[in-house]
Amino acid sequence: MEQYVIRGGNPLVGEVEIGGAKNAALAILATAVMTDETVIIENLPDVRDTNVLIKAMESIGVVVEHLDRHTVKINASMITDHTIDDLYIKKIRASYYMLGALLGKYRDAEVALPGGCNIGSRPIDQHIKGFRALGADVRISRGLVTAQAERLTGNHIYLDVVTVGATINIMMAASLAEGKTIIENAAKEPHVVDVANFLNSMGANIKGAGTDVIRIKGVEKLHGTTYSIIPDQIEAGTFMFAAAITKGDITIKNVIPKHLESITAKLIEMGCEVEEFDDQLRIVSSKTLRHTHVKTLPYPGFPTDMQPQIATALATSDGTCVVTESIFENRFKYVDELLKMGAVIKVEGNTAIVEGVNRLTGAPITAPDLRAGAALVMAALAAEGVSTVDDIYYIERGYEDFPEKLRSLGAQIEKVSAERDIQKFRLKTG
Ligand code: EPZ
Repeated sequence: MEQYVIRGGNPLVGEVEIGGAKNAALAILATAVMTDETVIIENLPDVRDTNVLIKAMESIGVVVEHLDRHTVKINASMITDHTIDDLYIKKIRASYYMLGALLGKYRDAEVALPGGCNIGSRPIDQHIKGFRALGADVRISRGLVTAQAERLTGNHIYLDVVTVGATINIMMAASLAEGKTIIENAAKEPHVVDVANFLNSMGANIKGAGTDVIRIKGVEKLHGTTYSIIPDQIEAGTFMFAAAITKGDITIKNVIPKHLESITAKLIEMGCEVEEFDDQLRIVSSKTLRHTHVKTLPYPGFPTDMQPQIATALATSDGTCVVTESIFENRFKYVDELLKMGAVIKVEGNTAIVEGVNRLTGAPITAPDLRAGAALVMAALAAEGVSTVDDIYYIERGYEDFPEKLRSLGAQIEKVSAERDIQKFRLKTG
């Protein structure tokens, strides 16, 4: 079983380049099948989830050609099947975007129920509500979601919760529906805007993405395009907190500072210095982090995908902190792993009470999900001694070249697959 082995104590210093946003890339890959013309997508992250989705697309006849590691050329004119029941597709959450894409283009879609990180129940009732409002008949049976429609007609849809996935999925299907659709209480995340911009570059007519009311005028068909995905604000935020917890000084390149505002604000509250430039920022952390409180909220609030990272940094702060998770109901599983490293944290429902400690100590820990796994790597980088991190495939779902990027910043981290490699690492770094 592959693991990361990490010796903590080195401050992260230097420069790191951020890749394309995973959660924009997954939706944009699915959306690319909505035209029969060729689509070129640039700045695509090379991570497990995007590669799994590409395989599932190819399984129904989509032609995907890698022009380089981060650029693909897609042609979906020869799709042979509207059912995706691929073994791998069940592992990722974003499989549901193929529903919106195939329903919009063919009025017929059948996709395995989505998987994804176990951070809560993760229903898809709002996706189904939206598709039905557009005139589709949607059924769940045999572990598959089936959506079919004679016609798709625009409608006025009010989402009961702010949901990124449903906002994007409905926007996709509505782009090829007849007439106007209004999505109220829409999610405003940067990747929602990126998907809207991508669809508009294909000839869709979408206005208001990034606000809580999105207006879509359906069009007959979509055409080919070339599009570059926005930088991943969660990857950037993860490196910002890694610098904070290791008292580092890093410059993070290829970011959109505006997308990081809530993260930057918290890091400044915690005593870090953050200097912003057009497409990069520098973060310096030179003293014990100041305690603070945080509640996760839909964008532009503090992102739930950064909750494990800020809680981990606060575990080494100078006081008591309250971390509230308002989006998902089961996103504190990593706390048990931090307790093994000497953290003092008490979880009560959707709140964690964090008592800062001077120093974490290295331990054998296990990643419970994608973002928590990245946070545990952060903890190990700051801890005294050696840690091993298990189940790193979670981390590889969303972080490209994570150990390599950290090593380039001075971290002592290696990916190993045998006990003897761990002993060798201990001797080499001891
Ligand atoms: C997306 O998940 C991201 N995943 C998640 O990132 C991210 O945490 C989440 O948005 C929130 O920003 C992808 O984009 C692939 P939601 P999604 O629909 O779309 C409830 C990561 O680490 N809800 O915005 O599944 C839901 O239970 C992952 O990259 C319904 O009730 O999130 C949750 O409480 C983790 N009914 C809330 O809405 C629905 O039909 C937000 O979920 C849909 C969602």
